[in-house]
Amino acid sequence: MATVLQARPRQFVNTAYTERITRRALRYLQSGFAVHLRGPSGTGKTTLAMHLASLMGRPIMLIYGDDRFDSSDLIGGRTGFTHRRVVDNYIHSVVKTEEDLQQRWVDARLTLACREGFTLIYDEFNRSRPEANNALLSALEEKLLVMPPDSNRSEYLRVHPQFRAIFTSNPEEYTGVHKAQDALLDRMITIDMGEPDIETEKEILISRVGLSGPDALKIVHVVRAFRRKLDLTQHPSLRSCLMIGRIVKEHELAVSKNSADFRALCADVLLARAGKRQDEGSQLLNHLLDQLPG
Ligand SMILES: Nc1ncnc2c1ncn2[C@@H]1O[C@H](COP(=O)(O)OP(=O)(O)O)[C@@H](O)[C@H]1O
Ligand SMILES: [Mg+2]
Repeated sequence: MATVLQARPRQFVNTAYTERITRRALRYLQSGFAVHLRGPSGTGKTTLAMHLASLMGRPIMLIYGDDRFDSSDLIGGRTGFTHRRVVDNYIHSVVKTEEDLQQRWVDARLTLACREGFTLIYDEFNRSRPEANNALLSALEEKLLVMPPDSNRSEYLRVHPQFRAIFTSNPEEYTGVHKAQDALLDRMITIDMGEPDIETEKEILISRVGLSGPDALKIVHVVRAFRRKLDLTQHPSLRSCLMIGRIVKEHELAVSKNSADFRALCADVLLARAGKRQDEGSQLLNHLLDQLPG
């Protein structure tokens, strides 16, 4: 029994907040549209994309956006060469090896997902250059994937009716991301994800780390207040909360204003996020920690 549970994907924590987004996104996917979850890092986009894909009940194909991609990384290309081993039937000790230099066409993940009707998760798709993603335009709109001439296939591959696509992206001001093409954005329904609500962050901490409700809530309050007051809009708090929560749990630290270890932990996780405003951040953090119970 335990092995089965371990083999399952990480537990998705459902709250009123996640249920509302899940319901909207699922509705669009069921009607055949691609869904795009957009928001700062750490808002739960990848986790939600996996959850939605698992609810679709089809095999899942995962692609991570990459600046080095070109269209063959999504569609496929000619790779390797066939290697034939010929055993001479008459003289058994003779083994002839022939190399056939003709390269073989290999479907890449988008082609496979379109052909078989899988659910594609294209995580952080705007890390890939826009031209690498061009094949998606006709796949999403006309339900046809245009195959390159050297694929030895017909010119178009008809997209399987159960093919669905879920995209995630980080805002354009992040380093290493490209501006998504308007044409592609036009073909998907974008849901902007902000930071989850307090209840959701608390429940994720309880479920993922095993903290008590009151401890989880204290950590969520400190981290959220720190981020808000310093106006660190690009740094949602979920990852910081999980880091602090895990160390508190594993090292049995007290979530208290009197615990020097807890104070040092919060400083280590949070102050680097204040950038050049270290002094201001340090003062603010001390003030927030002083408000915790002893
Ligand atoms: N609904 C959820 N249930 C459980 N864990 C979650 C949930 N949402 C987010 N998390 C956790 O929070 C962290 C950040 O979420 P992630 O999906 O990676 O964010 P993003 O893709 O927006 O950067 C991860 O450790 C993830 O496991
Ligand atoms: Mg992600």
